[in-house]
Amino acid sequence: MSTTATTPMMPKPGFEAPSYVNHAKLKAWVSEVAALTQPDRIYWCDGSEAEYDQLCNEMVASGMLLKLDEKKRPGCFLARSDPDDVARMEDRTFVCSKNKEDAGPNNNWAEPAEMRETLTKVTRGSMRGRTMYVIPFSMGPLGSHISHIGVELTDSPYVVVSMRVMTRIGRAVLDLLGQDQFYVPCLHTLGAPLEAGQKDVVWPSNKQHKFIVHFPEEKLIWSFGSGYGGNALLGKKCFALRIASIMAREQGWLAEHMLILGIQPPGGKKHYIAAAFPSACGKTNLAMLIPPKELQGWKVTTIGDDIAWIKPGKDGRLYAINPEAGAFGVAPGTSELTNPNCLAALNKNTIFTNVALTADNDVWWEGLSKVAPANLIDWQGKPWDPSAGKPAAHPNARFTVAAAQIPCIDDDWENPAGVPISAFVFGGRRTTTVPLVVEAKDWTHGVYMAATMASETTAAIVGKLGVVRRDPFAMLPFCGYHFGDYFSHWLKVGRALSSAPKIYAVNWFRRDEKGRFMWPGFGENMRVLKWIIERCEGKSGAVETPVGNMPRLEDINLKGIPDFSDADFKAITNVDKQLWLEEVKDHARLFSDLAARMPKEMIEQRQKLEAAL
Ligand code: OXD
Ligand code: MN
Repeated sequence: MSTTATTPMMPKPGFEAPSYVNHAKLKAWVSEVAALTQPDRIYWCDGSEAEYDQLCNEMVASGMLLKLDEKKRPGCFLARSDPDDVARMEDRTFVCSKNKEDAGPNNNWAEPAEMRETLTKVTRGSMRGRTMYVIPFSMGPLGSHISHIGVELTDSPYVVVSMRVMTRIGRAVLDLLGQDQFYVPCLHTLGAPLEAGQKDVVWPSNKQHKFIVHFPEEKLIWSFGSGYGGNALLGKKCFALRIASIMAREQGWLAEHMLILGIQPPGGKKHYIAAAFPSACGKTNLAMLIPPKELQGWKVTTIGDDIAWIKPGKDGRLYAINPEAGAFGVAPGTSELTNPNCLAALNKNTIFTNVALTADNDVWWEGLSKVAPANLIDWQGKPWDPSAGKPAAHPNARFTVAAAQIPCIDDDWENPAGVPISAFVFGGRRTTTVPLVVEAKDWTHGVYMAATMASETTAAIVGKLGVVRRDPFAMLPFCGYHFGDYFSHWLKVGRALSSAPKIYAVNWFRRDEKGRFMWPGFGENMRVLKWIIERCEGKSGAVETPVGNMPRLEDINLKGIPDFSDADFKAITNVDKQLWLEEVKDHARLFSDLAARMPKEMIEQRQKLEAAL
């Protein structure tokens, strides 16, 4: 687990760990990192509200946070990042396994010793003039058998306060670590040392180098140069997905890019579903969905909006927790129409990043209202000119908010035992080909559907817009090892379950020949979820097709959907043979890229599908 090859120095005054820290290995690692990064001081976070308030006040004083109007948005702040530091950077993200093949073609790989040398070089002295914060954090409810612990070392107070919202941090976590329990070491530095007398900038980061690196064998995360979101809040994508996916394979569970939703039919038993969608496909909206009035009595509750950790239970079912404690969601597009529950959550105690500021010290983003308020300040802090054709909020502007503030949060969202999963749902953004909803014939077929899912690229993904990109299980940027091994792991987990969840593929984004969305989406997606729950309960019918089972008109409640006819339903559930033959060819391309580790079951599924078409 050692980060550097240097010998730990004797702690200088103010560098000693507090007396309640009894974990020798952790203390040694903190000293070792301090020797490398040379901060002015080390601060062990206790996770208290007083500590959070103090850090926010300090950031307001330094200009890193702007306090919003206390009446309109009590306890809320706005941060503006450097224009070069606004999103996850997939091209700067690495998985440095000992064996290159283990990382798979789905990851950038570098030789671990070389990468360590590079990182050591750039990290030397990187915290000079700053405080190094030690953040012990738990992913998942404290003490749950599905949870795991990490410790993040960072020189960013923005990261500390964000981690307090997004995870459970502080003394209680150290107590759980005791003297020798396992934790995932997460080293984060902005890479922006302050030399003596140097004035700080509002958003420090490193212009020259950015690295987000994972060492699978050591379970070490090392992030350099960025202070933003998934690059810096290391509990999220780095730990809860990339490193956790590796741990999950070793230990027999699943770490997935999935929201978790509770759905209760009128007077019936509550079910939970876990749903995977690539970034920018409306996961947060689906996680907080409000059913349409025609489905009165159906209740939807939220367990999580981004990540699920899922473990087989003794009863042969799968149980899931949300390892996070907050939402780090995309603000643009969030409105009273698209997600009223989310909007209500953002009324207080929220950190906004890169949204626009109103003249009365409130926030605004594209989509929040039809007409933009006058005299906005854009996400870079400049007066916004609506005629200039640039958005006022950055398209990837975010809110960071505690899950407990979501009005529809499920009573069991912190249940350490997790919640039982009835169904998995996989969806991408597809203009053509993929029908509204398809049920897998069995677990293996479901794994095939998820392995071959794809999405059209949006502004959130660097590269050409509107290109179909295969994104197996919505895990392309997040699976910490070879996708072929990952598919095998899913097959193995399924084989051991006596009561496996059903598996579905959905597509809310199909368009007609005029380019219009054929399905209204948002709350109306509940029609599809209702059919899924009724299938799980054996209460609804379906028709078999070559691509899987689909609802017939009589199986799904479509009453009252504005401008949606029976013919539209027929069109959106149509399987176009020609397009599907093309689709299956593209599956073959994906499989050939992964050929070295592809499980034979997946090859057979592809052949079966081609033959059936
Ligand atoms: C996210 C993502 O931010 O998937 O959740 O990119
Ligand atoms: Mn995500």
